Amino acid sequence: MNTFQRFLLAVIFLSSFMGVVAKDIVNGEVWLDTSGNPINAHGGGILYHNGMYYWYGEYKKGETVLPDWATWECYRTDVTGVSCYSSPDMVNWAFEGIVLPAVPDDTDHDLHPSKVLERPKVVYNAKTKKFVMWAHVESADYSKAAAGVAVSDSPTGPFEYLGSFRPNNAMSRDQTIFVDDDGKAYQFASSENNQTLYINELTDDYLRPTGRYTRNFIDAAREAPAVFKHDGRYYMLSSGCTGWDPNKAELAVADSIMGDWTVIGDPSTGKDADKTFYAQSTYVQPVMGKNNLYIAMFDRWNKIDLENSRYVWLPISITDDKITIPWRESWNFDCINGED
Ligand code: DGJ
Repeated sequence: MNTFQRFLLAVIFLSSFMGVVAKDIVNGEVWLDTSGNPINAHGGGILYHNGMYYWYGEYKKGETVLPDWATWECYRTDVTGVSCYSSPDMVNWAFEGIVLPAVPDDTDHDLHPSKVLERPKVVYNAKTKKFVMWAHVESADYSKAAAGVAVSDSPTGPFEYLGSFRPNNAMSRDQTIFVDDDGKAYQFASSENNQTLYINELTDDYLRPTGRYTRNFIDAAREAPAVFKHDGRYYMLSSGCTGWDPNKAELAVADSIMGDWTVIGDPSTGKDADKTFYAQSTYVQPVMGKNNLYIAMFDRWNKIDLENSRYVWLPISITDDKITIPWRESWNFDCINGED
């Protein structure tokens, strides 16, 4: 070994010792936060604000149970709240705590442990300077089908719960929020017993629907919507509707956010693509500082041990206007570039 090789080896050894070697995203493994604890943020979404990424998700803690009365696989854990993690690089995540906690002392409250709290998403309202969270709130038997809204002055909470309702008097289950370049926000929600997807325009403060909405993917049973904008067009990634079990993903495109939407097809490629890599979409996050690079976030649910569900994050490949999501066992932000 010559002097240069020895020097290289020393640099590699020292930097890994100091924890500065960029970490790989290893799909399906346990992901640890900066304190060494498993990241617990399922069905989540990311907010980028002032140079930091904030990842919010379902804090699934404790035993997974199938209620005695269950007629379908409605496995659930007690509601414990919505967790938040922060990161400058989308790799190293610091736990910021439970930013919207459960309310154990009021059995009627939406956030009582006996209920269901899913798919929280947080957006920033530049006009009101508030952080606004929308989530799917449910009764234990999934009959409530409503949206809950909470606000905070800080991305790391605490969030104040404002209550729940059915947007435009329609059921609202799997959901996401998308803020367009003009500052207008929209809620995408599986409605009409998960058969039809509603796009609900929100008021300027993002707290309520304006009353303007469209029905999309009618009777197509789309769940787990995740929306992004690329090159002036809107894209929606979604799953089919098979409970906690994986199915085929679908990508759709629209020139106008409220539709009409056109189905492109299944963007997944590679191993287990027909089952979305045994995962389900939850969010698509653009990578700041990279050209047209978007990360598709998925949950790999473990329906009999929901706390032990895992994450699958994959860079979206955009080439010659063809959009695919190729399987990668593991990858590194340093090796991924967006489209030029
Ligand atoms: C599928 C949804 O995408 C999940 O968020 C959850 O509601 C499960 N169904 C419950 O079975």
